[in-house]
Amino acid sequence: MVRKVVQEVWSGAAAEREVTAESAYIQRRQWLQLAGLGVGAGVAALASGRASALTRSPQAMPISNLPSVSSAVAGARATDKVAPLKDATTYNNFYEFGTDKSDPYENAHTLITSPWTVRVEGLVGKPRTFDIDQLLKLAPIEERIYRLRCVEGWSMVIPWLGYSLSKVLADVQPLSSAKYVQFLTLADAKTMPGLRYGGLDWPYSEGLRMDEAMHPLTMLTVGMYGKTLPNQSGAPVRVMVPWKYGFKSAKSIVTIRLTDKQPKTAWHEAAPQEYGFYSNVNPDVNHPRWSQATERRLGDGGLFAKRLDTKLFNGYAEQVAQMYAGMDLRRNF
Ligand code: MTE
Repeated sequence: MVRKVVQEVWSGAAAEREVTAESAYIQRRQWLQLAGLGVGAGVAALASGRASALTRSPQAMPISNLPSVSSAVAGARATDKVAPLKDATTYNNFYEFGTDKSDPYENAHTLITSPWTVRVEGLVGKPRTFDIDQLLKLAPIEERIYRLRCVEGWSMVIPWLGYSLSKVLADVQPLSSAKYVQFLTLADAKTMPGLRYGGLDWPYSEGLRMDEAMHPLTMLTVGMYGKTLPNQSGAPVRVMVPWKYGFKSAKSIVTIRLTDKQPKTAWHEAAPQEYGFYSNVNPDVNHPRWSQATERRLGDGGLFAKRLDTKLFNGYAEQVAQMYAGMDLRRNF
């Protein structure tokens, strides 16, 4: 099934061996083989050395006991290098835990991720509350290497684990009146010191048009680097929308609501002139206070991180541009 998806959606994508160093690629294939049908103990043993020191979340676990885990590649460029886990888990935006880049790593160990449920509701035929085990088993888990481009001008290449959000949406049977999807995330003052930050209206919220939410690249994400998500990365479940600025990829989701009107979203509400509802990565539409033409690629080059030209739709134009045909991307930024 994964192979088919890869061919349909990511035709022309670089092969994984072009993205990752050949030795690492082969090693990872061996891990997957070792793990048999799931990314199980074999991967855990090999991956835990790097993961445990960097994920302060006590619950960061190997993704195991799953029906299947497949390795897939999503459109990474040949020049892309996967960021070290350390960069991906110590340089974060998760304002519920503070506004400095290291705050989520320092503070997010207080997040309680079990038990956790995600309510999917609104304009659907069969509203449903999923617990995490149900979400983990709803569809085969795939590894997808995506670029994440933050609106602030930095980017990273990260191997995520999850599957297309469309699987969850199909399960609840969207009504034809559903035009948008809203994501609402946890807001718990007891465990999230950053809620004192008044710049955003809590809970953090995000949204997509229905066709964007149903696009195969939009990923319900439950893990990274072979393990469950560390708290600072949005445990236990977040979305990844790789052609949009990173703030569209809401972390620690508790509610997914289908609506007929464009939903409120946290950054757009806070500063609509700076953060549009669409927020598609676009090098030609600058943020009012800085250029979006280039990006600093973290995890490639240490302190001297490379500066790269930013690509329209973060390089995923071939897959997603048709959704915006005829739209003025400057007005609908
Ligand atoms: N989700 C929540 N709940 N709270 C946040 O502050 N920050 C967003 C997004 N999701 C954020 C969030 C922003 S601005 C970015 S760039 C990405 O998460 C960062 O994801 P990362 O820390 O895994 O790189």
